[in-house]
Amino acid sequence: VCCQCFDEKLLLKMPLYNLTNRPRRLRRTSALRAMVQETQLTVNDLIYPVFVMEGENLKQEIVSMPDCYRYSLDLLIKEVKEAYDLGIKAIALFPLITDDKKDNEGTESYNPDGLVQRTIKAIKAEVPEITIITDVALDPYSPFGHDGIVVDGEILNDETVAVLAKMAVSQAQAGADMVAPSDMMDGRIGVIRQALDEAGFTHVGIIAYSAKYASAYYGPFRDALESAPKFGDKKTYQMDIANSREAITEVELDIAEGADMVMIKPALAYLDIVRKVRDYTDIPVVAYNVSGEYAMIKAAAEKGWIDEKKIVLETLTSMKRAGSDLILTYFAKEVALMLK
Ligand code: PBG
Repeated sequence: VCCQCFDEKLLLKMPLYNLTNRPRRLRRTSALRAMVQETQLTVNDLIYPVFVMEGENLKQEIVSMPDCYRYSLDLLIKEVKEAYDLGIKAIALFPLITDDKKDNEGTESYNPDGLVQRTIKAIKAEVPEITIITDVALDPYSPFGHDGIVVDGEILNDETVAVLAKMAVSQAQAGADMVAPSDMMDGRIGVIRQALDEAGFTHVGIIAYSAKYASAYYGPFRDALESAPKFGDKKTYQMDIANSREAITEVELDIAEGADMVMIKPALAYLDIVRKVRDYTDIPVVAYNVSGEYAMIKAAAEKGWIDEKKIVLETLTSMKRAGSDLILTYFAKEVALMLK
């Protein structure tokens, strides 16, 4: 186009080029954009992780997780009710266990009168419709902060699985709707499934943390539960951050052993894994938007460097776009409010 006809065409609003395809046509109005939007984030996708502690009338902010609290049971019930009223369908429950109750075998984890068991019953009594998902792992109950029984610095697999099965049955007895083993021991999904069935809990589901990586993104969560490993790291059971195919091996095993849903954790730095697992299986895929991902957004937003609300929606939408059906996120209430 010469300079002269450029000016002429501009005046007449004539096209300069004969373009067959103009994808911008479908972006022209907000109505059109809504019509062609491929991914929809809804309140039904959100699972709200909550922290419970002993005591009364306690609400303690987690230092590395601004706006996120540990609650005593009485206040947690209010929080859960609020979440349910906002449309949130499920919570994931994590307990802060006092040191005097911790032992290497995690015996407190299947105490019928333990903190988790009491919390499940109380929530079921007050907010019966909400789905309660419980964490099945030894770390909050172990003085070593590891997800398994420790002997000579090693994490024992099968002995740990036996405890996990007891823990899961105890949580089901208290009223848990789904149990979520986050420990990464081998074979635990099958053993837990069998234990639940034998105890009459065929209706209680299992969300398997199938591809759980040995990630630095769990730091703030370990602050919240004072559950950081006291020695070493979790690399002999959690996955190597560099691996991708191995995630499919784990997912394959967990599905064969009876998982109802599979989880990928963390989420944001692992969206390729979410996509890969989505393409591999048709059962629901869950992504865990973990504590470190939460903390990064909160910290940058506090500094005024990013727009928190927009970043949160963009981040969670990208997890759905990558293929997750459900997202565990500490932003659940905030997002539910935004989506209203
Ligand atoms: C422990 C557990 C962890 C998280 C959930 N369950 C931490 C860990 O494996 O050390 C992390 C969650 C988060 O960072 O938000 N079984």
